[in-house]
Parts: sequence; structure tokens; C-alpha cells
Amino acid sequence: MFNTIGVIGLGVMGSNIALNMASKGEQVGVYNYTRDLTDNLVATTEGQLIHPYYKIQDFVHSLETPRKIFLMVTAGKPIDSVISALVPFLEAGDVIMDGGNSHYEDTERRYDELKSKGIGYLGIGISGGEVGALKGPSIMPGGDKAVYEKVAPILTKIAAQVDDDPCCVYIGPKGSGHFVKMVHNGIEYADMQLIAEAYTFLRKRLGLSVNEIADIFETWNQGELNSYLIQITAEILRKKDEITGLPLIDVILDKTGQKGTGKWTSIQAIDTGIPSSIITESLFARYISSLKEERVYADIILSGPEMDQRSLDKDLWIEYVRQALYMGKICAYAQGFTQYKMTSELYGWDLPLKDIALIFRGGCIIRAEFLNVISETYQAQPNLANLLIAPYFAEKVKEYQIGLRKVACEGINSGISFPCLSASLTYYDSYRTGISNANLLQAQRDYFGAHTYERSDLTGFFHTNW
Ligand code: 6PG
Repeated sequence: MFNTIGVIGLGVMGSNIALNMASKGEQVGVYNYTRDLTDNLVATTEGQLIHPYYKIQDFVHSLETPRKIFLMVTAGKPIDSVISALVPFLEAGDVIMDGGNSHYEDTERRYDELKSKGIGYLGIGISGGEVGALKGPSIMPGGDKAVYEKVAPILTKIAAQVDDDPCCVYIGPKGSGHFVKMVHNGIEYADMQLIAEAYTFLRKRLGLSVNEIADIFETWNQGELNSYLIQITAEILRKKDEITGLPLIDVILDKTGQKGTGKWTSIQAIDTGIPSSIITESLFARYISSLKEERVYADIILSGPEMDQRSLDKDLWIEYVRQALYMGKICAYAQGFTQYKMTSELYGWDLPLKDIALIFRGGCIIRAEFLNVISETYQAQPNLANLLIAPYFAEKVKEYQIGLRKVACEGINSGISFPCLSASLTYYDSYRTGISNANLLQAQRDYFGAHTYERSDLTGFFHTNW
């Protein structure tokens, strides 16, 4: 009997994807470059439909044709090495899927190379971490539609399910699946940073305890802020350190790492002329966090305002923070979805925005209640320029900007750093400024460089002898 699918790369994500497939009735052939991970997996999976192979050709020959091979290998060179090792044993019609966080341009290169050999290649965004991989991730496949059809029955089965619909939909051609995952991660960075800033305000300015803040996040998670990241934040804040007994959050070093996808999102936005400022600020916030030693020194020699001791109406300000967070989140998702729209137009990808919002409702890290509204919005207005101007969101931010302004101003006056809350407000105010100061910039450019400017009353380009 042949295996119906093969998985290469048996780290935690790859092992869990293989287990997920096996639990859905697939016969899964597994292979890893080093045998230890294969042995680890099979030691715990007796009786399951997981079959180990220790030579790549044995692995390939164990698969039914057309072969379907799922890679869960570290992004970058390792993917190219695995593909090179596989290709001699493959036939036209076989399909390779890359489920890692590959850069979408690498995916396009690999897609082109394999297509010339008749081998199908899908760049598949997978979100949901270890648990998602095992129980049902959100899946974003990009490549040829006909190639996707060959693997769709398996992918839709292993995906998270929401309202009986799989969180897996064909995204579009070439590298578009990995592109959608990349921007998903950019939104993830912004969402996480916004939550961290809301937490800081509650802790530093309102003087609440970690436990009280956990209660607040738990309550928020019952309402329109309902989301995976809010839920896990409440759980994180409850956790005690086993060594000191302190809240674990208080002993975790304040230096944030990153693996590149948020950076790629920002680079692509900048290259393409897309104002993804909140996402980029969340990346810079991680960079500043990593300057720990410098920050500790600067804390001694640089001064700011004393933390304002005026007592604030607690309940009122908790509500302001909730509004600020929700509005920041709306602005961040508006930027991410604008990046989808503008890039889709640039490459002619025809990205299904309403479906992307739908498959983000389950499995993935940014899953949130309000993705339902985002999806409905794009269903009603597929060519919407920006989520902010859709009726639901325009109404919401009209109301919630009060909270965001109060919290941003109060925080800034108290010397708290608010990269993403303030970027959200700036984005909102810039976007709704019909007549801006860009005329002065144009005049300056023309003054020193004769770059010319357009006029608001006449067509054409003009230069002034200043
Ligand atoms: C997901 C996540 C995941 C990502 C990690 C780490 O959707 O499951 O986005 O793919 O790799 O969250 O990302 P950073 O190390 O860059 O924070």
C-alpha cells in the first residue's frame, strides 16, 4: 500500500502536521534529514498511520502518484537543498508543498524552476503554532489552481474548521500564499505590540496589579475584542514563576526576538509605497527592545516627565484603554488588508480578501471575532480602498477615537512609549486629512531641487524660480 502523502522535516511543526494528517485517515510517509527526529516521532506514534523512511528515495517511492510532499523545513537554503535532493526521484505531475515561512519571492523562484520540470509547487502559509499544526491551522495555499486541486482534499481536512467551513482557501498564483502569511505575521506583530502597550498603560498609569489586568483581559475577551492573542495574554498574566513565585511576566527579560516575516512585511510595504506604519513601528519596537543594555543606561541619564500621580477614574479609563486597543487593532488590520489589496493589484493576483478574512477566523495567531465583520465588509465592497471607510468601521472609530486620543495623550504625558497606539492615531488622522501639509514639502523639493509640483487649480507640472 502506498502512502497518500509525505512529510519532510520532523521538528515540532512537521511532526504535528504529520500527526494531524494521520488523524484524518491519511497514510503519512515521513522523512527527516537526520534520523533522530524520525525516531523520536515514530517512538510515540505506534498504531498511527505514520510510516518512517530513512532514505529519501525510499520515502519518495512509498508515495502514491501523483506524489504529494509537504515540506516543514526551515525557510531559506534548507528548502532548496531538500528540493534538489527530491527532484531526481520525482515525475511530472507530482506536487511539492512548502508549509514554512518562506519569503514569497523565493517561493516564486522555486515555483518557476519546478514548473519547467512539470512538478507542481505550492507555497503554503500555515499559521497556528504547534497546537494549530496538530489540531487545525489556518492554511493559505498559493500556486497553480489545478495543482492546488490535487491536494485540496487533504489540506481542507487538516485545517481548522469554523462554522463547518475549513480555514483553508486557494489564495492565488505563485508566491501569493506565502505573501498572505507574511503580512498575516506583520499584523500579528502590530496586534501583539498594541496589546503590550494597553497592558503598560493599565499597569504603569492606572497602577493595576498583574492579576487585575488579567481579569480585564478576560473580560475584554468576552466582547468585541475577543481574539486568541487577548485570551493568551490573560493566561500569560496569570502564570506564576516557579522559582520566585512572582508573576512570570515580571521575570521574563524585556527583549523581543523575531524571525523575519514582520521585517519582510515592512520592507515590501516600503518598496511598494504602502503606508504600513503601525506594522513597521511594531517591528522597530522589537528592535529598540533588543537594545536592553543601552536602554538601562539611558534610563539613568535621560529624564522624562514624572509619572502623573493624579488619580484617574479607574473604570472610565479601563474603557478608554479598551477603545484605544480596539481602534489600534482596526487601524493595523486596515493597513494589512490595504497591503493585500495594493499588492494584489500590482501583481494581478486577485487576492480573495473576504475569504482571507474568513480563514483567519480559526487556527491562526491573529484569529479574532471582528474578522467576521472584515469578511462581510469585503463581501459587500470587494474593491474597498481601506477598511476604515467601510460603514461599520467608520462608525466604530468615530466613537473610539476618543479613547485612543485620551490614552495616547495621557500615556505620552506620563512618559510611556506608545509606538503602535500613537502610530494608529497618526495613521487615522493622516488618512482622514483631506488637505495636508504635503504642499509645503513639494515647495521645498522644488526650491532646492527643481523637482516641480502640481497645482490644485491647474493641470501639469510647474517649477518656480524661488
Ligand atoms: C504563526 C506564527 C508563526 C511565526 C511565529 C514567530 O502564524 O503561527 O506567525 O508562523 O513564525 O509567531 O514569529 P517571530 O519569531 O518573527 O515573532
